[in-house]
Amino acid sequence: MKRKEFIEICCFVSIGCTTIGFIFQSCSNPNFFAKANVVNNKIVLKKSEFKQTDFGNPNKRNFILIKIEAFEYPIYVYKFEEGDFSALLMKCTHLGCELQPYGDYLVCPCHGSEFTNRGKVQHSPADENLQTFEVTTDDENIYIHF
Ligand code: FES
Repeated sequence: MKRKEFIEICCFVSIGCTTIGFIFQSCSNPNFFAKANVVNNKIVLKKSEFKQTDFGNPNKRNFILIKIEAFEYPIYVYKFEEGDFSALLMKCTHLGCELQPYGDYLVCPCHGSEFTNRGKVQHSPADENLQTFEVTTDDENIYIHF
């Protein structure tokens, strides 16, 4: 094999591996941003957004994320059971980093604070609970009041 052919093959393999890695990373991202509308200072969200139907997976999501223009940070909506939801602003109360969902917790990537899915501080350095929103429901929708 000539040097030029070897370099070309190495380049194709490298590009292929990078592309495949990106595709797998995209598919495995568990954070789902739901579609939501804002009506009269309420975020309106379909309860069906908690059904995970992509890739033929019949499971239900425990939480979903919402991003609307009114807030710089996403809102984390957790479903405990039918009619029992929490809605939390994903802004760390320590120095304001955006939190990341990790199982049933929210974790701060900056200095390691942790919060429960009800917004209570579990680990410092944060010492205040997260901003929460009132949540109401009807048969079809979830309403997050702000
Ligand atoms: Fe979150 Fe410091 S900003 S722990």
